[in-house]
Amino acid sequence: MIDRKDLLELISVPFKLEGLKPRFIRVSSAHISGISYNNIREEGLELLKEILSSGLRITVPTTINPGFCELEEQDCDKETYKKQLEIIETFKKLGAKPTLSCIPYLLGNIPKKGDHIAWAESNAVLYTNSVIGAWSNKESGLTALASAILGITSFYGVHLEEGRVPKVKVNFNFELSDEVDAGLAGFVLGKIVKDSIPFVSNSFKNRYDLIEFLASVGTSGVIPLVVIEGITPISVSKDYLNQIQSLSIGEEEINKAKSSLENLKSEEDAILMGCPHLSLKEVEDLLKLNRKRDKDIFIFVPKEVKAVVEKKYSKELKDKNIKLVSDSCILWGGIVSRNYRKVVTNSVKGAYYLRNVLKVEVGIRRKSEIMDV
Ligand code: F3S
Repeated sequence: MIDRKDLLELISVPFKLEGLKPRFIRVSSAHISGISYNNIREEGLELLKEILSSGLRITVPTTINPGFCELEEQDCDKETYKKQLEIIETFKKLGAKPTLSCIPYLLGNIPKKGDHIAWAESNAVLYTNSVIGAWSNKESGLTALASAILGITSFYGVHLEEGRVPKVKVNFNFELSDEVDAGLAGFVLGKIVKDSIPFVSNSFKNRYDLIEFLASVGTSGVIPLVVIEGITPISVSKDYLNQIQSLSIGEEEINKAKSSLENLKSEEDAILMGCPHLSLKEVEDLLKLNRKRDKDIFIFVPKEVKAVVEKKYSKELKDKNIKLVSDSCILWGGIVSRNYRKVVTNSVKGAYYLRNVLKVEVGIRRKSEIMDV
């Protein structure tokens, strides 16, 4: 039996570790990660069922991350598919909206500037803090669920005004010409700033590159916020910026990061795009282009995007041999069931996890190397 006191204990850990009296703040929404059966396995599912049978229920609008299988296609092995469905059904019974997407900030759960929220999924936390100006620490799947039930979170970190002040300025000494440059810059930045909130200039060509940058920051680092000049609704004076530590990232660092992430030794079996999930506009932009590589292309999207695109662009999808996958993370059961051992992606975050979690060979290719841009 799990009760509210246990959940309160759990979200109080950051204070307990410092020997401080816990303080809390109300949250207006939650987003929960770690819902893939491949990730939480039997122990995670059992814990969710125990929370459900204890009578606890979610009390604030709450969405969930993607899982491991495409539900319509049932493309995982039977047992995994059954378990993945059970996880989703349990979340539904607890009161979560089964959005199964990692871009809730664009679709399904959009916070307002100044909202205090309890979100897991690092790319979503970084986007909502850095772009929208909502306030969330980087929660784990479990602390986000605890907050979704309790309606409160621990009042520390970037929930405090002083926790949102940049402590280091990071300069990019090269042009972030596309999503891969932006992703690699984010990956290096996440590592070098450690737990200091950084300030960066707006060097991004479009929203897609910015999302790839933030997703990579969350992959290599622990920070929940990057203050981006002209984007993040936090004002920082020039005088202050001149006083703080300044670091630089150059081409040498990003080339090194790229080589450390790649291990593809021969031609790929498949191309994977959409980590984080792509929005409708990003898929539409892709479908206008001709493809360059003769391999299966899978694009990971929210189910709402899949429904619209399959209806409106069925010919383009067929002609270009592009398959949309919804409900699933790029760490997808279809890679296992199709026995793909070598993949290519334009996502730095995707490359990191595909190599380390699914143990496939990975190459990083820019959109311009996959499609005829
Ligand atoms: Fe989304 Fe999975 Fe990438 S949750 S951000 S597609 S690793």
